[in-house]
Amino acid sequence: TAIVVENAEANQVHRHTPHLAMAPGSSEQLVETTLGAARDELVRGLGGLLDQPVPVTTVDGDNIPDGSVMVGTPTSSPLVDRVTSARDLAEIGDEGYLIRSVSRGKARFTVIAGNTDLGALYGTFAFLRLMQTQKPIEHLHISESPKIKHRLLNNWETERLYAGNNASGLGGLNGESGAIFNFAATGASTDRNLPVILDRYIVVARALASLGINGITINNVNADNAYLTSSYIAQEAALADALRPYGIKLGLSIRYTAPTDGRFAPDTLTNSQLDPYGADFRGWWNRRAQQIQTAIPDFMGLTVKANSEGQPGPQDFGYDHGDGANAIAAAVAPLGMTVHWRTFVYNAEVDNDRLKRAYLEFGPIDDEVQPDGARGRFADNVFLQTKNGPLDFQAREPIHPMFGRMENTNQALELQITQEYTGQNWMLAYLGPMYEEIVKTDTYATDENGKLLKKRLVGNIVDGTAQHHPDTAIVGVANLGNADNLTGHHFSQANLFAFGRQAWNWTLSSADIATDWVRMTWSNDKRVVDTIQKMMMGSWEALVSYQTPLGIGHQFAEGAHYRPDPADWAGRDDWSPIYYNKADTVGLGFDRSPNGSNLAAQYFPRLQQRYGDIDSVPENLLMWFHHVPWGHRMDNGRTFWDELVYRYQMGVQYVTWMRETWDALQPDIDARRFAEVRAKLAVHEADAADWRDTSVTYWKEFSGRDIPVDDGPLS
Ligand code: GCU
Repeated sequence: TAIVVENAEANQVHRHTPHLAMAPGSSEQLVETTLGAARDELVRGLGGLLDQPVPVTTVDGDNIPDGSVMVGTPTSSPLVDRVTSARDLAEIGDEGYLIRSVSRGKARFTVIAGNTDLGALYGTFAFLRLMQTQKPIEHLHISESPKIKHRLLNNWETERLYAGNNASGLGGLNGESGAIFNFAATGASTDRNLPVILDRYIVVARALASLGINGITINNVNADNAYLTSSYIAQEAALADALRPYGIKLGLSIRYTAPTDGRFAPDTLTNSQLDPYGADFRGWWNRRAQQIQTAIPDFMGLTVKANSEGQPGPQDFGYDHGDGANAIAAAVAPLGMTVHWRTFVYNAEVDNDRLKRAYLEFGPIDDEVQPDGARGRFADNVFLQTKNGPLDFQAREPIHPMFGRMENTNQALELQITQEYTGQNWMLAYLGPMYEEIVKTDTYATDENGKLLKKRLVGNIVDGTAQHHPDTAIVGVANLGNADNLTGHHFSQANLFAFGRQAWNWTLSSADIATDWVRMTWSNDKRVVDTIQKMMMGSWEALVSYQTPLGIGHQFAEGAHYRPDPADWAGRDDWSPIYYNKADTVGLGFDRSPNGSNLAAQYFPRLQQRYGDIDSVPENLLMWFHHVPWGHRMDNGRTFWDELVYRYQMGVQYVTWMRETWDALQPDIDARRFAEVRAKLAVHEADAADWRDTSVTYWKEFSGRDIPVDDGPLS
């Protein structure tokens, strides 16, 4: 059966809006299925775009009304089978789609086809996006498939949330925490808690499916064992059922020592039973995973933060990350599940430079020769999940040296969508260009003979084309909360949108993605589109400029990660801003060249040379790799000091320009959203100025130099 949305004038949508009638009752079919979701999206989307109801018919034969949009698979519909070629279908794989303009007899229609229902759903959203962004929908000949297999969100439901009751400071509504999904603690009222499915869960499912996101790990990496208890598993199963038609699978973050938690009694282990090579430990994880799989047959697997920031791990028991990851991986492998083992570790005993520690721990395990002669100890169902940079989601970091270096291990790229260090719910910062910079950075990876690989951008490493890894994954730490707009700041939606689009196809341009988003979110008026897109495109670089310009590391005040405090903290030294800025009368920045910590040496030779030399390092990473003398000459002839002050000032000026530009858009934007963004831009401007003033005033103490007059007084 094909689902046909009759839309005699669909191809004319940009010119006029025809009147059509809705077939009564038809929207009740197939609601629990993926094709049902596709049908609903077309009815709702076309109905909204055309501003009138759209009739649905089911065709069995070849009779299809002229102007229809048809969605299905070769198995769901003989007609789809007849109008698509087997070769084209073979090329798009399990999740891809074809969108084709077809003429058959007198009828001209559009077919959206996948090999699977999910492919057809993805194609449906893509078709609607074309219409929403007013792209041509005639003569369509589109073949699309994702470059990366697992396109996932990590939802830290209790941490770094800037999009719900928590963020706004409002008290919880009926006990809601601000998280996107509400779980009921044992015995708690269930009227707004799972297994009740709130409308917003479906809104989220639709939004994620429209981007091709196919999995979500629903709890914090600093994991609470509650998520593995029977009462939570039952709630997770209800959520999984609701998300399943949208192709979104569930995963969980777990704590390495969960088996010792008394909540699982009588199935509880003692510390001495946590030997990763012992049957007790593996048996426990296998039993727990089986219980989850019984409730959630398509459950993805487990994400583990171990021996990191106080979380327990195999090292507490005399083993390494390879032993621990492989033990849990072996326990869940028979169930077809994976383990995402995070590499965010920075044990101070490993090296003085925090940024070198992860590679020093994981590299040797990846390189280790196995009894069978093969290299690499990590199991096939382990992904090492690595943040984009070696520190911690700062506004700009160089790529993590592990990308390309872990030839024998599956690697997942972890990006942050929630704006922990990038302005939270106050600052307008479009991160698409940051993601683009990361995935398009050249690793200069070489093969075992030292020859440069042909494909070697970070995106090629992640999508498997560089080193031929068959299983691939990308993960975004999500920014969803129970705020009406789901992300807190209206413009934070763009970051989720950009992540999803780039996860599907990392070669896309973030500028084009921004344009699409503006058209789908604010307006199709060309002037409005161009103006908002321009605001967005410079906003990340502006944030880098007024927060941490020229590659200076972490300079945040303790705790919230929003305001500046370049001075010392009382806490641990590898978090203190002075650890990163090394401010003194000579200059500013952390020497990671061969004269210093030599982090540069962890990169492939070409990058090693580039980063290691103060004259060839990209200026936007200058202080990441060098202690830069105040009088150092920049490429444009300014001294480093003058350039530094200029950058802070330019960043703030950009925000002022955004605020003024937004004000001028008032006639074109609905009153509520206009006012909400306007209020945030005012805070943004003041807080950006605070970053500039606090930082420059502090640096001046060390440089002993004057504020360059050309750049105007500091506020
Ligand atoms: C950062 C962040 C934490 C998070 C950690 C992680 O340190 O501030 O909230 O737990 O990263 O990625 O594990």
